[in-house]
Amino acid sequence: MAGGADAAGGAEPDWLVKNRAAWDERVPIHVASSFYDVDRFVAGRNSLRDFEVAEVATAGGVAGRSLVHLQCHFGQDTLSWARLGARVTGVDFAPSGIDAARTLAERAGVPGEFVCAEVYDAPAALGGRTFDVVYTGLGALVWLPDIASWGRVVADLLAPGGFCYLAEFHPVVDVFDDDRLVATRPYFTVADGDWSDTPGSYVDWDAATTHNETVEWTHPVSSVVSALLDAGLVLEQLHEHGHTLFERWPFLERRADGTYHLPSGSPSLPLMYSLVARRPA
Ligand SMILES: C[S@@+](CC[C@H](N)C(=O)[O-])C[C@H]1O[C@@H](n2cnc3c(N)ncnc32)[C@H](O)[C@@H]1O
Repeated sequence: MAGGADAAGGAEPDWLVKNRAAWDERVPIHVASSFYDVDRFVAGRNSLRDFEVAEVATAGGVAGRSLVHLQCHFGQDTLSWARLGARVTGVDFAPSGIDAARTLAERAGVPGEFVCAEVYDAPAALGGRTFDVVYTGLGALVWLPDIASWGRVVADLLAPGGFCYLAEFHPVVDVFDDDRLVATRPYFTVADGDWSDTPGSYVDWDAATTHNETVEWTHPVSSVVSALLDAGLVLEQLHEHGHTLFERWPFLERRADGTYHLPSGSPSLPLMYSLVARRPA
């Protein structure tokens, strides 16, 4: 399963239509939110997390390199890599996200190319071009039904010697209930996905929205790593992190740097993970 339309060029699958409508509606809410703080970004803030910049530096950095950001949303992180010297291209399936990214690039005076395309269609939408770096994550993979096909997309987009950097919320977190550390959901991928009908957004649960039906898939870390290995990449870094970037549970403690941690005394859990995988030269 992959791609925007079926093999015969027929109608788009329901998951794609529903998810895209939901994301398209939420872009203006996100652009206006304090969560994304666009004014500070325009004034020069870099939205990337310190661990991302450090791990990418270990892989060789982005200065002077071409970088494609899959599922770039409205482009803040994409343009942050440009501020570190990359020539950036952002890809997202939400037309409003691509429009907002182009506006943001102009406002911030940071060069960036933005292309509206579904992940599985990205290699074709980018005309078969390859890049030194593929960057993605932070709430991206849960929207993809087929992680093996995603791995092949990443490999297709990488130039020989280039690397993929993924920073993602840890799938084990999805197993737990919303207000207690009790396992209530499956860890391993459920083919039909997890459908929900939830108004609002993580930046404002009271925001008025009408496109609320979405479907997500949990992808175990082993599936993600295997997808990249099976596509011919070589794993260079794999980290699990004890912090996350949002209030996943009400008992998480927020630190001054904006990261969220389990309180001392509770058992440690991986809340995020990150990896570098390289296409052999
Ligand atoms: C949580 S956001 C990712 C946030 C992003 N890391 C950032 O820089 O802010 C998920 C993004 O994935 C996009 N998306 C979801 N499914 C997609 C798909 N199948 N193809 C392309 N983009 C997709 C959404 O439009 C949304 O912008």
